[in-house]
Formats: sequence, C-alpha cells, structure tokens
Amino acid sequence: MTAAAIPENATIGIVGAGTMGAGIAQIALRAGHRVHLVDADAAALARARATIAGHLDRMVEKGRLDARDRDDTMDRLRPASGPAGIADCRLVVEAIVEDLSAKRQLFAGMEEHVADDAILASNTSSISITAIARALARPERCVGMHFFNPAPLMRLVEVVSGLATSSQVAETVAATARAWGKDPVMARSTPGFIVNRVARPYYGEAFRLLEEGAADAATIDAILRDCGGFRMGPFELADLIGHDVNHAVTRTVFDAFSGDPRYRPALFQQELVAAGRLGRKTGRGIYTYGNDVPSPPVSEEPPCPAPSSIRVEGGIGPLHAIVDAAKAAGVTVETTAEGPGMILVEGAAFGLSDGRLAIEHSLDGGYPVALVDWCLDWNISPRVAVAFCASMDEPRRRAIIGLLQAAGRKVTTVADLPGLVVARTVAMLANEAAEAVHLRVAGEAGIDTAMKLGVNYPRGPLEWARAIGFGHVAGVMTNLRRLYGEDRYRPSLRLQYWNLASRHQQHRSRVQPLVPDRS
Ligand code: NAI
Repeated sequence: MTAAAIPENATIGIVGAGTMGAGIAQIALRAGHRVHLVDADAAALARARATIAGHLDRMVEKGRLDARDRDDTMDRLRPASGPAGIADCRLVVEAIVEDLSAKRQLFAGMEEHVADDAILASNTSSISITAIARALARPERCVGMHFFNPAPLMRLVEVVSGLATSSQVAETVAATARAWGKDPVMARSTPGFIVNRVARPYYGEAFRLLEEGAADAATIDAILRDCGGFRMGPFELADLIGHDVNHAVTRTVFDAFSGDPRYRPALFQQELVAAGRLGRKTGRGIYTYGNDVPSPPVSEEPPCPAPSSIRVEGGIGPLHAIVDAAKAAGVTVETTAEGPGMILVEGAAFGLSDGRLAIEHSLDGGYPVALVDWCLDWNISPRVAVAFCASMDEPRRRAIIGLLQAAGRKVTTVADLPGLVVARTVAMLANEAAEAVHLRVAGEAGIDTAMKLGVNYPRGPLEWARAIGFGHVAGVMTNLRRLYGEDRYRPSLRLQYWNLASRHQQHRSRVQPLVPDRS
C-alpha cells in the first residue's frame, strides 16, 4: 500500500534559509502548508523572505496568482532562529551547510523538539543518509529529500533511503513531494545518489577528450548539443555550475567509491580550480566571459563538392537518414544487402562508430574508413562529427565531407579516438545507469526520469541505450576497455545481461514453434 502525503494542514519545518531552503519553503507554502523557516543567521531569514515574496509578486504580475493568495501564502511563513521553531512540524527538511558533523548535531537537536512520528529529511546532495541518521534515537525517521536548484522550478526530488530508513517514511515523503507538484524518484543512499552519480561521465569523458586532443572545448560542446541533443555542452555546463563545485562532487564520489577509476577527477579541471578559473562566477573557466568577448568558434569543414554516386553495402542503421537526404540532393545511390554496413564513396568508406578506431576498420576493410558519431535524432541533427583514418587522402576526405554536406549537415572533424564524442559519452552514461540498476541504487524508470528531470537530458540513458540497442552500447564499452586497457571502461554486467537477453529474445522469435499454430 502506498503511503499518504503529509496533509495540507500540517506544519512543515525548513532548517537553513539559503538558496535551497528558501526554494523548498516556497514550494511547501504554495502547497498550502504553514512553514516554519529556521536559520542561525537572521539576515538569511530576511533574504529568504524577500526572495519568496519577490517570486510570488512576479507570479501575481503574470496573472498566475491572485494578490490575496500571495498575501495568504506569505502569512503562512513563520521565521524562527532556533530548533524550537520546528516543535509542531510533521516534516522537517534540513538545508544547512553541506557538512556531516553540522548536520548530525542539528538532527540530534531536532529530535528533542519534534513528535515521535515526525519525519526528519535532509536535502543533502552528497552526504550519506545512513551517516546523518546515526545521530538519532529513531534513525528510521531520517530520509533524503533531495531537491534540485532552482527548487521551485525543477521537478525532480530524489527520495533517499539510508540503511535504517523505514519504507513508510520514504513513501510518505515521496507522496508529499508528489502532492507538492514534484516527481519523486526512490534511491538507495549510495555516493551521488542517482543524478550526481550517473552524470559523472558527462563531464569526465569531455575532459578526457579535451586532454586527448579530440577537438577544442567549443567543438566538443557543439557536438554534444547538436548531435547528442543535450541542452548544454559539458564545458559550458561545468562553467555554469562552477569548477570548484563540479570538481568537489566528482572528488566526493571518487573517494566514496574508494578510487574507482570510473569517477577519477580530471587533472585539467583540477588545474582550472588551482588557477581560480571557476567558470562564469569568476569570469573565466573553460571559456572567458565578458561583454566584449566573442563566442569561441566551433570547428567546421568548409564546403566540399558532393560525389556523384555512392554505394551502400549492408545494413547501415540510422545512417539511412543521410543516404536518403543525399539521394534527394541528387546523389546516385546503389545498394547491396550484403556487406560490412558501410557507405562507399570514391574508394573510401564510412560507417557508424562502434567504439573501434577508424584505422582498425581500415585494416579490416582494405580501404580507408571514416567513422561517424552517434546522433540523438538523425532526421533533425544539424551537425555530423566524423573521424578519418590517418591514411585517408585529402580527395577522399573531401568526398565524404561533401556527401554529408549534401545531406544538409554541418561537418566537424574530430580525432580518431574510440567512440568519438557522443557514442562514447552516451555509452558511458548508459553503462553507469546500468550499474546503478545492477547495484539496486534505483529502478530503470526512476533513473531515466531522474536524468531527464534533474539534469535535462534529452532522453534517459537507459531508454537511449534500448533505442540504439544494448549490443551496440556494450560493443562501444568493450572497445573502449580494450583500446584503453582501463577499468574505467569496464562494461556493467547488467548492460551485458540486457544485451544477451535481447539477443535471446530475437533468437526465440526466429525459432519455429514445435506445435504449428492452427488458428
Ligand atoms: P546556502 O549556503 O545557500 O544556505 C545554507 C543556510 O544554512 C545558510 O543560510 C546558513 O546560515 C544556514 N545554516 C548553516 N548552519 C546552520 C545551522 N546549524 N542551523 C541553522 N541554519 C544553518 O546553501 P544551499 O546551497 O542552500 O545548500 C543547502 C543544502 O542543500 C546543502 O546540504 C547542499 O548540499 C544542498 N543542496 C544544494 C544545492 C544547490 O544547488 N545549491 C542543490 C541540492 C542540494
């Protein structure tokens, strides 16, 4: 049976009136609760009150709230300076400084003031709920209620259970989050919970690609936006978050996993922090900010003539969108069902990245090969990223570029590295998500929801892997692991299992039933 939400007439306590506390208080007020907002600093309380009032005023101006509702909502907000302010609260959400000993001390103090059945939740983004709960006589009432910034706008709430958290408490908090208009996702208290764990490769692989000279930062960002469909590239996003914060999250997850190479912080980001280049807030991070600073250029191939004809050999999967568009532009297309899944253009070939190097494909195929990076939606992607085998001469490169341009795409060349940019990033995200499922951090649907709502991914990593085919994703991981020889790229057992299960399913559907269907 699912638990009921905390009723609207119950009082909610919020401790810590900073960025997050003010946002959470606004959500609870808007849901109709009385809110006791507690902070050690009177100025923080005044700022929080002003922030909430400002947001409500803007809603009134836009006609989304009437003035009387605004006044009633503000009347339900009661500031308090000490923990006694939470005495009659059914749910208290803590949003103080991210420090275990401060949180433990606060939770122990809160327990002295609240009723036995009150729920004590923490908005921590990185501290173990189990560790915070240790301070309590009733640790089963302690739960994570992790909102995302800006809390009033972001729909995701991770409901995090520590070792002692009762399922009734977690379900009550989830139901309450839902009643507050949020989308709760259940997670087990493990480092980074869902979002801060599964998102690590988005930054980690980007820094790795930059260090390896795949392309410059603006080009990597553009590929992940235009081809991957991500709202922001990893470097512009890390500049916005702040490299100090982003690096600290990676470091916390890396340390909590006892130095697992999957989460190893990037040396280059460490250098940015050491240099004080923290991103937008210091005017310089990966990029430089200022009124007169031009946007950094994205590397792009100049126009090349299209070849008059091409030959498609074997199944080329989503690259059909390119072939169809080239055909519509007047390129003659010859097709054979058999073959390596490549498009032959003037003595060279290109195909979709499978995590192998273009030069490996060239050795196998006997002709120079180029590899094309993955796209979220081949029908609308404005850009194609391509890596050429080093031995491909200029006329053949230009013929492939010309063909992709004839298909209406901007073409960006990247270095011949395993999995290029999008394929490698998406495979790593899906692999991390699969591992989180395998270790029962959260369910498949919950992880996809968390990544779409918490960090605005265009598709959940597992939905994405399913659409591409688990076999292709597992193949990219296997090739990354083989070529780098690093455990960082080990394919999750769950990913391999899903691949085997889907192959088994296909095999079964090909086998004739022993008893013929007579219907
Ligand atoms: P903040 O620094 O804006 O606000 C913290 C507030 O807590 C300050 O007003 C401070 O005076 C008050 N405070 C500190 N110790 C206190 C105590 N013992 N008793 C009462 N008040 C106390 O911090 P922010 O960004 O709001 O973060 C709060 C919590 O939320 C942290 O645990 C953080 O990890 C988490 N979080 C932060 C997110 C963000 O994007 N800022 C996102 C999700 C979670």
